[in-house]
Amino acid sequence: MVKFISGMMFKEQNIHQYDEYLIRLKDVVKAYKTDAGEFLALKNINLTIGAGEFVGVIGKSGSGKSTLINMISGIDRPTRGEVHVADTPIHTLGEGGIAKWRGHNLGIVFQFFQLLPILTVLENVILPMDFCNFYNSRQRRERAMHVLDLVGVAQHANKLPSQLSGGEQQRVAIARALANDPPIIMADEPTGNLDSKTSQIVFQLFEKLVAGGKTIVMVTHDGDLAKKVKRTIIIADGEIIEGYLTKAFPSLTQQQLIWTTSMLETQKYKAGTTIMKKEDAPERFYIVTMGEAEVVLRTPSGQECVTTRLGRGEYFGEVGLIHGGLRPVDVRAASDVEVAALDRASFNEFLNQSEDVREAVNKVAAERLQQALEIIEEKKDVCTTLA
Ligand SMILES: Nc1ncnc2c1ncn2[C@@H]1O[C@H](COP(=O)(O)OP(=O)(O)OP(=O)(O)O)[C@@H](O)[C@H]1O
Ligand SMILES: [Mg+2]
Repeated sequence: MVKFISGMMFKEQNIHQYDEYLIRLKDVVKAYKTDAGEFLALKNINLTIGAGEFVGVIGKSGSGKSTLINMISGIDRPTRGEVHVADTPIHTLGEGGIAKWRGHNLGIVFQFFQLLPILTVLENVILPMDFCNFYNSRQRRERAMHVLDLVGVAQHANKLPSQLSGGEQQRVAIARALANDPPIIMADEPTGNLDSKTSQIVFQLFEKLVAGGKTIVMVTHDGDLAKKVKRTIIIADGEIIEGYLTKAFPSLTQQQLIWTTSMLETQKYKAGTTIMKKEDAPERFYIVTMGEAEVVLRTPSGQECVTTRLGRGEYFGEVGLIHGGLRPVDVRAASDVEVAALDRASFNEFLNQSEDVREAVNKVAAERLQQALEIIEEKKDVCTTLA
């Protein structure tokens, strides 16, 4: 039975087996041949996106945003590297295979809507269902009306796209992207051609879709919208700079950000597991990229307390690395946590690259050490220090 819940069928069949990430790019390179030689539009991209994330992709014109989106949607192929979506290695699929896969799994929204001008709004939305042979013809019409209603343009169903405003046309394009109920929506500057009020409406629609379980990757030039998504990926000259890094170290230059990103290694921890033990030799510096970590301290009387909770863009591990082994705390995962880690040598180099960062990290380390010592020496009432 093919019902209106193909996206859920997809989830049950694929995503549960693939428990790590929904989208995973591994060492992706995209090279274009130009008169001046080979041009690298994407340079060794490693990226993971979890199911249900709403990710904003930002960066200057020509930085590689559309190229990245096209790698994930299979519109274009990597020159090297792998692109996995759920458990499908889409870089290995042929043209026909990709088109079929895309029709089932991914909705795409473009800046210039790209509706077919000779078809009505309703027919434009029915088209992807025809292509995938989803639903019978009555169901296709019902489904199309349902998604048009969802985006608030059902009253225009029988008009031609040219009779609609830009914002209305984009909502039709979103309805078309939703037609086959794909779990993923890729949007390349969906608000690029809309005024700010209409952009808000489209953005709120995306938020609603994410709340309903969709995963959305959206390229945007709109700084206000980029601030509202939970996770932003910055692209600079074909390389990725993660938003948590700019949050943790706002003074880093673009070059320093690119270097640091390339040295960071991602690690995942289940809720309740220990990330860093005070007995272990200090070897790593960690930045929380997802979830929450908690700093745990044991007093001489044996009382365990959580002194701080660290969220996305906050870091730990620097006390031991800077103060030669003195590290009075454990850090454990308060929820499922993802961290990005630098080894000792990279951490030292990282501090050497920027005086501002070195000062900031040294200050945090000194304050944390002082706080921990006060708690250990029971100069402070532990219970009032609890986060
Ligand atoms: N087919 C091609 N042949 C050669 N170079 C290309 C090709 N397509 C894209 N490029 C180059 O790759 C780089 C990245 O292009 P891309 O379209 O991904 O940028 P973008 O970040 O989406 O820019 P914009 O914000 O202007 O849309 C650009 O320098 C572009 O000129
Ligand atoms: Mg682009």
